[in-house]
Amino acid sequence: MESYDFGIVGLGVMGRNLLLNMADHHFAVAGLDLDEAKAQSLEKEAKEGQEVKATTVAEEFVGLIKKPRAIMLLVPAGKPVDGAIGSLLPFLEEGDIVIDGGNSYFPDTDRRFTELAEKKIHFFGMGISGGEKGARFGPSMMPGGDKNAYERLRPIFEAIAAKVNGEPCVTYLGSGSAGNYVKMVHNGIEYGIMQLISEAYDLLKRGLGLSDEKIQETFTAWNKTELQSFLIEITGEVLAKFDDESGERLVNLISDWAKAKGTGKWTSQNAMDLQAPIPVIDAAVTMRDMSKLKPERVQAAKQLLWSNEISDFKEEEIIYQLQEAFYFAMINIYAQGLAQLTIASKAYNYGLNLEQVAKIWRGGCIIRAAVLEDFRQAYGRNPELPNILLDAQIGNKLVSKQAHIRSTIKLAVDAGIPVAAFMNSLAYFDAYRSDRLPTNLIQAQRDYFGAHTYERTDREGTFHTQWS
Ligand code: 6PG
Repeated sequence: MESYDFGIVGLGVMGRNLLLNMADHHFAVAGLDLDEAKAQSLEKEAKEGQEVKATTVAEEFVGLIKKPRAIMLLVPAGKPVDGAIGSLLPFLEEGDIVIDGGNSYFPDTDRRFTELAEKKIHFFGMGISGGEKGARFGPSMMPGGDKNAYERLRPIFEAIAAKVNGEPCVTYLGSGSAGNYVKMVHNGIEYGIMQLISEAYDLLKRGLGLSDEKIQETFTAWNKTELQSFLIEITGEVLAKFDDESGERLVNLISDWAKAKGTGKWTSQNAMDLQAPIPVIDAAVTMRDMSKLKPERVQAAKQLLWSNEISDFKEEEIIYQLQEAFYFAMINIYAQGLAQLTIASKAYNYGLNLEQVAKIWRGGCIIRAAVLEDFRQAYGRNPELPNILLDAQIGNKLVSKQAHIRSTIKLAVDAGIPVAAFMNSLAYFDAYRSDRLPTNLIQAQRDYFGAHTYERTDREGTFHTQWS
């Protein structure tokens, strides 16, 4: 009794893999799942000498764990999290720690944090990235909650996290819902980069008519350049996969609409609330929604015609240009997400350290990429950096590559290929580097039709004009 270091509620894919990861690192771990079969099979999966126990009874489970108890919930976001907390509460004591390891909506985390604080129980919202494999062999973890209570969790989390140059991809991020917020924005960036990759693929396939083999080779080769990243790497592998039954490339047999669980949408919705511009992530959410309009798109394809052919191009030149454009756009996506975190940290008093965020995103998570080390160094040079585009090294690199994204977009426009992520990356960059935007005209129009008043460049105060 009370001899287990850590408990996990929910022995689905993520729960059981994290638990086995902990067992590999010599922690004694207990699992709770109402499904008897899941509980039993977990104990069988444990290796000789590992202390792994599973039960279907909440009271027994809580009684197994060393005090102050550390218990992580890995159940679907929403009501199941409240249900799991409710089932544990009668047996928990002051000082115990409950960690929600799912993709919970951050205001829910704040509510639970406050509710449990009244009972002197510490609540953590912790984003976990890396999917099934990450959970088993090293995820990136984004915990937020009470700083002192984190010390109880630290040895376990640092042991099981992915490592980059020996440094664990986990750190205490901030108070309240900081962890869930950072994971939400991680997912927003994930949406943006996946959209960008799909556009590059579309341009190569539909626009230039390159063979599937050539496109696959291109992504595989890109992964050996400064574009090195998990999402580019798996794209090469996805494109190389053949269907066992038909012998065709599997990707060509997959329907062209994608579902979404909501984290991308939340990122955009909250960015609007905070007035944090993230146009590529917004576009990525929108393009997934466009993908679902399949019957309309099929009809429109017959009516709204444009010749999609580009002829007379030098293949290797265009691929190089696209590679440079991709780098440019990718940096702009991270820039938008990280800038949103900076704004959110102030708005919600999270106290985020962006250097640490970049550090723990370098490994284990879905958006891990070589460029994260550059961002980490940029925030190391200037912790107050409002936007990584203002870092001289990163900014100069983008300035030198901008001609390529301009050319790539022109090509896509000629070919009639939608490249909303590329376009919004460039529009963001061009807006950000404009010391004077045309918003003076918008101020004037608002005052014209609604007497909303305007501010002037030559005098202090607010003004209204009788325009007509
Ligand atoms: C991760 C992933 C993970 C999940 C996404 C999928 O970091 O491991 O982001 O959290 O795969 O939630 O999101 P959508 O279903 O919205 O595409």
